[in-house]
Amino acid sequence: MIYKKISDYNVPAVGLGTWEMGGGEQADYSHDRHWITIIRSAIENGLTHIDTAEMYGNGHTEELVGEAIKGFPRQNLFITTKVWLTHLRSNDLFSSFEKSLRQLQTDYIDLYLVHHPNPDIPLEETLMAMNRLVEQKRVRAIGVSNFDISLIKEAVRISSVPISAVQIEYSLLARNSGIYTQNQEKEIIPYCQENQIAVIAWRPLGKTNYIRLATNDVIKKIAEKYHATPAQIALIWLIAQKNILAIPKTGSLEHLIENSKASDIDLSMEDGKLLREAFEE
Ligand SMILES: NC(=O)c1ccc[n+]([C@@H]2O[C@H](COP(=O)([O-])OP(=O)(O)OC[C@H]3O[C@@H](n4cnc5c(N)ncnc54)[C@H](OP(=O)(O)O)[C@@H]3O)[C@@H](O)[C@H]2O)c1
Repeated sequence: MIYKKISDYNVPAVGLGTWEMGGGEQADYSHDRHWITIIRSAIENGLTHIDTAEMYGNGHTEELVGEAIKGFPRQNLFITTKVWLTHLRSNDLFSSFEKSLRQLQTDYIDLYLVHHPNPDIPLEETLMAMNRLVEQKRVRAIGVSNFDISLIKEAVRISSVPISAVQIEYSLLARNSGIYTQNQEKEIIPYCQENQIAVIAWRPLGKTNYIRLATNDVIKKIAEKYHATPAQIALIWLIAQKNILAIPKTGSLEHLIENSKASDIDLSMEDGKLLREAFEE
């Protein structure tokens, strides 16, 4: 497994996303056993960076993660969660944070992220609250998600505690135009790489657009050459880049094991370039 630094912590470059485990915007309890097994298997296979959010499953996803991590040494896990955009006033943020801790059955969060910016709430207030949680050692590192470059720079300027990670949509299918952010490769990633900020790529496999990756002739050929799958090539292409981590979500044990082995691939610079050209936007 390749490890990347988030603040002072070594974090596996491939983690586990949890969106739609235990519901989307509402809780869905019907597959709890399955999701708990998946999260446990992920940890057993080295995917110890688990990405969740208070908004996922209206809190139920955090509950599933909390249930799944029981029995594993807490210090071996890296748990990221996110505060929702309507909870960015300091008092709301503190309440959200306490709720996340309860749901996750833990007493600290490794990485706490602002899920989305909210122009109606001063960023300073939000970051001061997050800084306080770090000072109290209840949060180890903080960051922002779905912020554009100017807002990332503003967060860096305002926050006394370093902004250690930026989470953005980034994959071969979304390089400079994502749902919420533009110019990931042109602006955001170079800035983060120059400033020791980890970039966590969400939707690294394109979710429902994965078919576009899997059926592309160039990626298929490269996958064959490395005895790998297109998903593994898409992941290694991401994490071979400086400071970049990926958090694919899967409900399949087979895919999970596949994803955990992506970092074993030694992708050449030349093949990386071919992939860039094949998925030019
Ligand atoms: N910060 C944000 O605003 C934000 C937004 C979106 C997502 N996220 C985070 O990023 C995570 C990942 O994004 P995502 O869930 O939207 O999309 P994704 O991880 O790019 O794609 C998930 C899809 O890929 C499939 N898949 C996974 N591994 C595979 C493999 N080895 N081979 C073939 N298919 C594979 C899964 O199907 P199977 O179940 O069949 O494997 C699933 O349908 C989320 O779960 C969430 O934690 C954050």
